[in-house]
Amino acid sequence: MARPKIALIGAGQIGGTLAHLVALKELGDVVLFDIAEGTPEGKALDIAESGPSEGFDAALKGTQDYADIAGADVCIVTAGVPRKPGMSRDDLLGINLKVMKSVGEGIRDNAPDAFVICITNPLDAMVWALREFSGLPHEKVCGMAGVLDSARFRHFLSLEFGVSMKDVTAFVLGGHGDTMVPLTRYSTVAGVPLPDLVKMGWTTQEKLDAIVQRTRDGGAEIVGLLKTGSAFYAPATSAIEMAEAYLKDQKRVLPCAAYCDGAFGLKDMYVGVPTVIGAGGVERIVEIEMNKDEKAMFDSSVNAVKGLVDACKGIDESLA
Ligand code: APR
Repeated sequence: MARPKIALIGAGQIGGTLAHLVALKELGDVVLFDIAEGTPEGKALDIAESGPSEGFDAALKGTQDYADIAGADVCIVTAGVPRKPGMSRDDLLGINLKVMKSVGEGIRDNAPDAFVICITNPLDAMVWALREFSGLPHEKVCGMAGVLDSARFRHFLSLEFGVSMKDVTAFVLGGHGDTMVPLTRYSTVAGVPLPDLVKMGWTTQEKLDAIVQRTRDGGAEIVGLLKTGSAFYAPATSAIEMAEAYLKDQKRVLPCAAYCDGAFGLKDMYVGVPTVIGAGGVERIVEIEMNKDEKAMFDSSVNAVKGLVDACKGIDESLA
């Protein structure tokens, strides 16, 4: 049987890491697409040359031609520009929205059966726009944010409790931004919810609040340290977890930016919610109950996403 084909649109920091991970995990053959001439070709060749030492079987190709992504099983989108000093959020939105238009059309024309995972920021608005431009079924287009935000939360919690990250589960919902909603009630150490761990004296409410805030600021913390760019190892790993769930029909329960039209009382929008990912793409949205405080935080996050989507509609009339 032929190996799955995985198209990576954007061969920057995250795109290159994605390609390396796909090869190391032998998830399939890789096509790295980028408008920057030489970058995808160079990264593909460099990673291919690590093959003899690693012993993986995967073909890697770099390209500037969308025809090369034809028939891709999975497309992971990181194309776009990061924010630079002096730019407003609307400037960034406008530029990346144009990128989503060309990427969406490229996928529509060449890989319409793919499962598409968007990573480009501002995530929830960009994945919505990418779906609109591509016209693919909603369940086949989603955004990577919740897996990463939850992974950051799990990492910080494991440090606090001195236990393995494997035994920490966490739930982070809402938009991928300052308003994201880490749900402590649904986050556990081996099934014991965080509020119970506070009662048991494993931590204090103050420390837990600080960890929640550090999770919200997780991306900014890395930007502050790197100074020249944003996080790429953990974002790439998170997207690979989602791609693997699709390719292997794992039915993983993973938070991601999924299309909600009815779920959680939302209408025609993408936002971070718990989902089941399998061979059908986003097969189900897990509609958990939220208490009053959690719902208020979720609503404010939803409103922030709606504001960005409205800005997209204002910039590109075809989306309105
Ligand atoms: N089509 C294809 N690739 C493009 C396009 C386009 N229209 N426009 C830009 N690119 C490419 C750039 O040439 C660059 O190689 O996208 C790549 C982006 O890579 P980086 O700048 O290294 O950014 P990265 O750290 O990988 O992040 C990508 O993911 O997490 C988000 O905020 C982040 O939006 C950013 C995206």
